[in-house]
Amino acid sequence: MNKDNKFIPKASIGKDKDKNGQIDRKSFIGWLSIGWLAFAAATGGYFISMIRFLFPNVLFEPPQSFKIGEPSDFEKGKVDLRFKKQYNIWVVRNDEGMYALSTVCTHLGCTPNWLSTERKFKCPCHGSGFRISGINFEGPAPRPLERYKISLASDGQVIVDKNKSFKQEKGEWEREESFLKV
Ligand code: FES
Repeated sequence: MNKDNKFIPKASIGKDKDKNGQIDRKSFIGWLSIGWLAFAAATGGYFISMIRFLFPNVLFEPPQSFKIGEPSDFEKGKVDLRFKKQYNIWVVRNDEGMYALSTVCTHLGCTPNWLSTERKFKCPCHGSGFRISGINFEGPAPRPLERYKISLASDGQVIVDKNKSFKQEKGEWEREESFLKV
């Protein structure tokens, strides 16, 4: 019986309610805590997604224009392989000057290897061969390797700029920027 003389069966009184059907203080604080936790989790998730948005998954590529050293760092008549892995270029110096060759095979884009004893670039995919100049002479490659812009900086270092490429079949190797006279 309650104070209004109404009978309340024991079974109908919830664990978190008093005999008047009111939520007691302890339960109220418990529910409040759960609410706050849910709010904090939702807000935290929102901020995490905001932070991820500010720092997207970007693939950082090496710069397209870079210095490779002074002309004297390159031996005449040799293919310099030092920049193949990082920049995908070969640097060649001869008696007249220097040029930077692309390491991308003009057939289907594999990376040829420089065979120093045979003095040629040989593509492992379908057997195309390129001379030290970059000219194709065997296999299915339809055209020579491309060359990149090469110039001398004011500090005496050689700069290669991959933003500008030159195709032999279009007569672009005649352009001044495709070859550095040193
Ligand atoms: S990709 Fe080089 S020969 Fe086919």
